[in-house]
Amino acid sequence: MKNIDSRTHVRGESIYLDDIPEVRGTLFGAAFGSPVAHGIIRHLDLTAAEAMPGVVRILTYKDVTGENQIGGIVPDEPLLAEHHVHYCGMPIAFILAETDDAARAAIKKITVNIDPLPVITDPRDAQALGHLIVRPRTFRLGDTATAWEQCAYIFDGVADTKGQEHLYIETQGAYAIPQENDGIKLYSSTQGPTAVQRAVARSSGLPMHQIDVDVTRLGGGFGGKEDQANMWAALCALAAHVLKKPVKYALNRMEDMAMTGKRHPYSSDFKIGLDENLKIIAYEATFYQNAGAAADLSPAVMERTLFHCTNTYFVPNVTATAYCCRTNLPPNTAFRGFGGPQGMFVIEAAIAKAAEALGVDAAVIQAENLNKTGDEFPYGQKAESEAHACWDKAVTLYEIDTIRSKTASFNTVNLVYKKGIALMPVCFGISFTNTRMNQARALVHVYTDGSVGVSTGAVEMGQGVNTKMVQVAAQVLSIQTERIKLLSTSTYRIANTSPSAASATADLNGRAVQIACTDIVNRLRAVAADELQVDIDGISLKDEWVYVGDQQTDWDWKRLVMAAFAKRVSLSEHAHYATPEIHYDAAKEKGHPFAYHVYGTAIVEVTVDCLRGTYELDAVKVVHDFGASMNPLIDRGQIEGGIVQGVGWMTMEEVVFDKAGRLRSNALSTYKVPDIYSVPKEIAIDFLQTQQDNLAIFRSKAVGEPPLMYGIGAYFALRNAILAFNPAAIIPFDAPMTPEKVLLALYDRSVKG
Ligand code: MTE
Ligand code: MOS
Repeated sequence: MKNIDSRTHVRGESIYLDDIPEVRGTLFGAAFGSPVAHGIIRHLDLTAAEAMPGVVRILTYKDVTGENQIGGIVPDEPLLAEHHVHYCGMPIAFILAETDDAARAAIKKITVNIDPLPVITDPRDAQALGHLIVRPRTFRLGDTATAWEQCAYIFDGVADTKGQEHLYIETQGAYAIPQENDGIKLYSSTQGPTAVQRAVARSSGLPMHQIDVDVTRLGGGFGGKEDQANMWAALCALAAHVLKKPVKYALNRMEDMAMTGKRHPYSSDFKIGLDENLKIIAYEATFYQNAGAAADLSPAVMERTLFHCTNTYFVPNVTATAYCCRTNLPPNTAFRGFGGPQGMFVIEAAIAKAAEALGVDAAVIQAENLNKTGDEFPYGQKAESEAHACWDKAVTLYEIDTIRSKTASFNTVNLVYKKGIALMPVCFGISFTNTRMNQARALVHVYTDGSVGVSTGAVEMGQGVNTKMVQVAAQVLSIQTERIKLLSTSTYRIANTSPSAASATADLNGRAVQIACTDIVNRLRAVAADELQVDIDGISLKDEWVYVGDQQTDWDWKRLVMAAFAKRVSLSEHAHYATPEIHYDAAKEKGHPFAYHVYGTAIVEVTVDCLRGTYELDAVKVVHDFGASMNPLIDRGQIEGGIVQGVGWMTMEEVVFDKAGRLRSNALSTYKVPDIYSVPKEIAIDFLQTQQDNLAIFRSKAVGEPPLMYGIGAYFALRNAILAFNPAAIIPFDAPMTPEKVLLALYDRSVKG
């Protein structure tokens, strides 16, 4: 089935936040953010700004009618700064004006006097000073302390990864419209309608039932709108509540880049021990997560770093510790992979270091250590493995030996161009690691003309979840997809939703739709059995017709629906789904947190121009475990998009803050994302169909985040190409591998002096 949004997308008719027709009297908001990264506010002067034409009101923390707090996991994030500012861009005042331009012009007239305090941008510095947001956590398996004795080889080192801009096409924004009796209708570009509803309720002081958050779709979220849409929605709602006027704020690109958090940078230490046969015996890692100035989702992101610290390898002795370090950067947040990619990069770096030192191909070590069914992850869950299935198939299907020999002969005959390859196996757990978030609801109405309306808690952000919801309803009801309309995500129709995240949206909401539709079908079958005077067990619905056994009757869908209505049988259902089997004990750091794992292996091939340091991605060839894909077109799109986003993070996207905590890569002229010229020339995707029961909707495994991590292979492929040119190069594990870093490494002579 084609994506149900494709028609309106290509015609430019799809509605995003900024396309919603504005109500008369709408005011436009703009946030004034702190010009410094850390300090105490001495004096805030609003008089010049208030005198600007079109300015209606400027709100500060004093105007907050509820609690001046929007922190979700930890209450450490004021809606508007009071006396202390913790990062550049931290909102201090919210301007309301008659036009967008007037609001932004007034921002420039605000002056603030701030006594500066020391600025910390490095997570290791923060940890040394004890600036931790939550307690450190340690995952353990076996005993590394004694395991080192069994190792023939031990290597240690440091591995760093930088941040990443979400760069959703649609920036953050919200539009709040006051309703009678203090209610607020909110349009928000959010992955978490309930998170927005909670933040608005808390900061405005209204009960949640007064706040209807409505989301049609997002122009991308990528994790950036899981928590960080709350700020803008709460500001608009507060202003709407105070002024009794509709209020809209859609951030422009530079505001969005400067004021919102990004993927967490990490700095990590590793130590890896192998035996003579290259089996990994022990692995230790310490992760310093740069959380930024407030908790946001950092503790949860940090947890997933630990869950995925051994990627898809079985390591019998593991000690992994993570620190959630408070710095003076904008609060960093969820980003596709949710900390998992940062953890995986470190073990891949450890393996690369071992391989380079021992003079073996990293793939030999990788293959030797892939986990098998029954192997235990450090968090206690056992693998139900497809690691080998994907790896082995990738190696044979794409003929790795041929790729290797072609690469070698290319490198022999070419002096200034070198090719490099790397394999990147991935294993990603599916479920929110916070067990209680693994629940969802769906509301299905069948109307008397046979048309159907479906509501869920899922938010469409380009990943195609709405299309999958229509597919589930159509299949269970056995009707044409054209009869089904997927309604916007509204906290008035579906309450207490989990954000659309963790790649689990289709699973959770799809299961709820399946349950709701199954219940309706069973009631309709009872009606048919009654009308046809046969036993209900013999009744089924197939392609809009009622069947008795194999026999098609003259009862079609519409007739049956009308008969049910006449008999006063309910044509509506609200269903609830909670993922079974999962549990986790954070005190012991053991449990069964994931409904299942998604596996895959990518082969990445690159060519480096050794005069310029520039490079091209020749190919990314993947075997990916889809379970039984219910929509191969959408799933292929997710893999392609994930790969390109992952490659961007690992090779060219470089978030730069200066020591004063100011974002230097603050526009698309200084922050480079992969464009059509830099994407891999070839992306091959093979669908590994797996059959074991995986708790996914229709056994179609979650696909949103796992492919991002294939991009890590690009980093190691580039490394290998550099080493083909300059085998003596000492290359720090410091992603992204930008052309500048490639050039430095190509001509590194530090060993020879
Ligand atoms: N794909 C598109 N086009 N746009 C997005 O914003 N977000 C990613 C991924 N794929 C995203 C996307 C992230 S971070 C997640 S968690 C999943 O989609 C969320 O959707 P799902 O749970 O339906 O997979
Ligand atoms: Mo995705 S990072 O879980 O929104």
